[in-house]
Amino acid sequence: MDKNLMMDLIDRATVARNRAYAKYSNFKVGVALLTKTDKIYTASNVENAVNGLSVCAEHSAFIKAVNDGENSFKAIAIVGGVLDINSPCLPCGSCRQVMAEFCDGDFIIICVNDGKILEYKLKDLLPNSFRLK
Ligand code: THU
Repeated sequence: MDKNLMMDLIDRATVARNRAYAKYSNFKVGVALLTKTDKIYTASNVENAVNGLSVCAEHSAFIKAVNDGENSFKAIAIVGGVLDINSPCLPCGSCRQVMAEFCDGDFIIICVNDGKILEYKLKDLLPNSFRLK
């Protein structure tokens, strides 16, 4: 992926991370989701006092974009993790499944924390994914 575009996604995800509502885990995640029409949707994780109602940043970004009429995607930047620990947050299993609903195997997943950048394709993080057909 183009370096400038990648840095733009990372910058936007970093801004989104500041809006995370992570009162219970204190684990803040921000994402920037790039559509095939070159629009960018940002989101952060929003937690809840009731276990199970917390929503991941990635899931939220897909909901936002799909509700805005977008349904094909190129890439996502995910900024999060424990600060000062050089270990980016990778998408959870549920979010990988959400990605598989809308994206092909070449969907790019950029995971960033504390200056460290890891880049994956969806087919590597969720091989042989479940599909109804
Ligand atoms: N979280 C995300 O938003 N995205 C991920 O990929 C992993 C986890 C959130 C969920 C919860 O609010 C917090 O991080 C700790 O699990």
